[in-house]
Amino acid sequence: MIIFSINNSHDLAQTIAKKLKAKYAKLVVDDFPDKELYLRYPVNVSNKAIVLVESFQPVPDWSLYTVFFAARTARDLGAKKIILVAPYLAFMRQDKRFNPGEAVTSKIMAELLNYSIDHIITIDTHLHRYNSLRDVFNIPAKNLTANSLIADYIKKTIKNPVIVGPDSESYQWAEQIASEINAPCTVLEKTRFSSRKVAVKIRDSLDFANRAVVIVDDIISTGHTVVEAAKAVKKLGTKTIIVIGVHGLLIENAVSRLKQADVDKIITTNTIKSSTNVIDVSSILAKELLKCKLG
Ligand code: R5P
Repeated sequence: MIIFSINNSHDLAQTIAKKLKAKYAKLVVDDFPDKELYLRYPVNVSNKAIVLVESFQPVPDWSLYTVFFAARTARDLGAKKIILVAPYLAFMRQDKRFNPGEAVTSKIMAELLNYSIDHIITIDTHLHRYNSLRDVFNIPAKNLTANSLIADYIKKTIKNPVIVGPDSESYQWAEQIASEINAPCTVLEKTRFSSRKVAVKIRDSLDFANRAVVIVDDIISTGHTVVEAAKAVKKLGTKTIIVIGVHGLLIENAVSRLKQADVDKIITTNTIKSSTNVIDVSSILAKELLKCKLG
């Protein structure tokens, strides 16, 4: 098995390779003067199982495009198996046509990967209207979760936590994490008006005043969702608010927006490169790769 990183995730790919005692290399990715893609495998992949590690950030379209070219090139060079590790898989939130004429990009992204990849592994991908990755992929596809790693982190570092999910979809993180550490949990109600405008309501009020509130979500993008959740719990007398996101996209000044909302700490996993990363997901990815058939 040879592990390659493409545009990002170089550190994560290297750590996984070390854990598996596998060879690691960075793909050579550049552009020609007219901006066409240039891509080259720096080692021989003929007859090898190869793993492409690429998080679909900070430019998801570019990641998808380069993964597709990298996979097709590997096939052309005789690789016998192509596995994609996409710690953060973008496009999954566009899981229906919300307005007439829109592209359901999750389906199209999956079509490209179904055609070019043999197996895909991701972490806490956004499953809302899809029940599982099988609804979009027809290749073996595994959605791992960082829940236990997050639960461990909370257990070791936060005293007297109450776990809060900011919207109905977040129950899959909030409830499991809370049950692993035996903490109380509540899930809030979110109304989304646009990409940058949400409102959040508390459904059932727990003892927020005497506990450290830990808001957990899969994606922190602009941060508006967790900011509104933080404001809502703050009104009930909470003193400490910690936000934990699996995927810290943290775009458009999300970090300062969260700080302005009196969030004490922002913690993310290293599925995407960010200064907020504290929780390392390399162990669950390495373990899953060990289970993959390589032939
Ligand atoms: C959507 O439902 C997701 O689970 C996140 O809550 C959402 O993507 C966060 O986006 P933002 O940080 O821009 O509010």
